[in-house]
Amino acid sequence: MKRGGAASLATCAAALLLVVSAQVGGQQKAPPARAAQGGAKATAKAPAAPSYAERFAAQCAACHGANGRAADPLTPVLAGQPSLYAITQLFLFREGRRSNEAMTAVAKTLTDDDLRGFSDFIATLPPVPAPAPSAPPDPARMAKGRALADQHKCVFCHGADLAGGQQVPRIAGQHEDYLRASLRGFHSGSRPGYTQAMTAAVSQVPVEDLDLLAYYAARFPAK
Ligand code: HEC
Ligand code: HEC
Repeated sequence: MKRGGAASLATCAAALLLVVSAQVGGQQKAPPARAAQGGAKATAKAPAAPSYAERFAAQCAACHGANGRAADPLTPVLAGQPSLYAITQLFLFREGRRSNEAMTAVAKTLTDDDLRGFSDFIATLPPVPAPAPSAPPDPARMAKGRALADQHKCVFCHGADLAGGQQVPRIAGQHEDYLRASLRGFHSGSRPGYTQAMTAAVSQVPVEDLDLLAYYAARFPAK
């Protein structure tokens, strides 16, 4: 069944995404309004220089998925991430402040223009729902996760829908294993943030509660 907002799909980037999501059997969803804005930017420019949509397909999609939803549980879903969040993380990888063998190697090759271009492209990727889980979410764990997200003010920064915005990442629908590793990394100090916000937010939270928050956010429907 078709949904509204077809006019906003008029950019090449959005059209490409529809092809891609159809190929991987993802649900088709109207991208948010901001997708149309960013999409135009990503597809302009002279034929000599490949667009960031093309460069993403060539340099990033093998790990992160053509539609921004990585299959590997420790490779983050990029679909639906705000541009400002993406650029701060690419910068941290490039400068060696955030460290991961695979991603650091990629980031070291990027210019400032590339950081901007890839981040703006990432922001055009509409959120991709997680594949249907093998088991329905455990209601007790979901209720506990929701209570923890309120108690520790996660929703204050990440939003009631956990969709993030600006420099704050979307965590709804992110891979559970990746979320767990990230939260534990902020807790232990092995993942320094761009600011102290996350280190402060999780420093007093017991690790088993962080794992429950990862369980909850991963199963939170991405809109
Ligand atoms: C060889 C696999 C690989 C390739 C290629 C790759 N990435 Fe990554 N990327 C990763 C992994 C793994 C992580 C998570 C690292 C961690 O856990 O700290 C990551 C993290 C990221 C993040 C941070 C996401 C978040 O939620 O914090 C961004 C942004 C990103 N990659 C963008 C890109 C872009 C843009 C490209 C192409 C220019 C690219 N990646 C190519 C594997 C890859
Ligand atoms: C004061 C605002 C604030 C609060 C409160 C907060 N966060 Fe964050 N969160 C951020 C920011 C900003 C980042 C980006 C990290 C950086 O600075 O590099 C982030 C990053 C994250 C990430 C990494 C996502 C990724 O893609 O790598 C996770 C997971 C996360 N937060 C979960 C939580 C949870 C769970 C809570 C509650 C315990 C929480 N946050 C509370 C602001 C906040």
